[in-house]
Amino acid sequence: MEKREQLYEGKAKKVFATDSEDLVIVSYKDDATAFNGLKKGTIKGKGVINNQMSNRLMKMLESRGIPTHFVEELSERDTLVRRVSIVPLEVIIRNISAGSFAKRFGVEEGIVFDEPTIEFSYKNDELGDPLMNSYHAIALKLATRERIEEIKRLAFAVNDALREFWASCGITLVDFKLEFGITTDGRLVLADEISPDTCRLWDSVTHEKLDKDRFRRDLGGVEDAYAEVMKRLNEHIGF
Ligand code: TMP
Repeated sequence: MEKREQLYEGKAKKVFATDSEDLVIVSYKDDATAFNGLKKGTIKGKGVINNQMSNRLMKMLESRGIPTHFVEELSERDTLVRRVSIVPLEVIIRNISAGSFAKRFGVEEGIVFDEPTIEFSYKNDELGDPLMNSYHAIALKLATRERIEEIKRLAFAVNDALREFWASCGITLVDFKLEFGITTDGRLVLADEISPDTCRLWDSVTHEKLDKDRFRRDLGGVEDAYAEVMKRLNEHIGF
């Protein structure tokens, strides 16, 4: 499948047209941003790792009945995916307190929840991705109630699968962000990426951070952390 014109450039990926109306190519960059683009940098090799990691995890999720946009990995940084219309919601699942949850509610990081939480942010950079509930999303016609119910069900199923997989790698899945899209034939699928950019991953024994928080918080060792997660994934994934 050949790359045609560029359709879109986001903070971490570019999207290209193909000969098919129903398929696009995503191309992963090494660019990293945080705090709604205020902090900018590069994580060398990140594009390759995030591309390969996201694809393998999506294949694993597909095998567990979760529909995704993944079609075929084309090269180190490029992947063929189904063209979708993105539902403008960032869907965040949390198993342990961290990040904006800890800040908003004035609690420490590391509290293990009895059950996972779900929250939505309105995907809108100008507004700084404000938190919203499902009623707000329906009022703004971002999604129907039925779609939101489907999104919630899939997001919790993704959490069950990912938590179990990362645990087998000696990694605790603290929280993560998902995005969903509607394909040209009207199906809801998991889209975007699953990577250390979009998940908090802590070493299960030492609790060392192995994700983008190393970049956000200037902790150093960012590239090594991404490489360590990829190494453990390669050792444990059956795909
Ligand atoms: P938060 O604690 O900052 O709200 O982040 C929750 C999770 O979502 C964390 O795993 C990082 C991920 N995330 C993104 O993927 N993109 C974003 O823009 C933000 C703010 C968080």
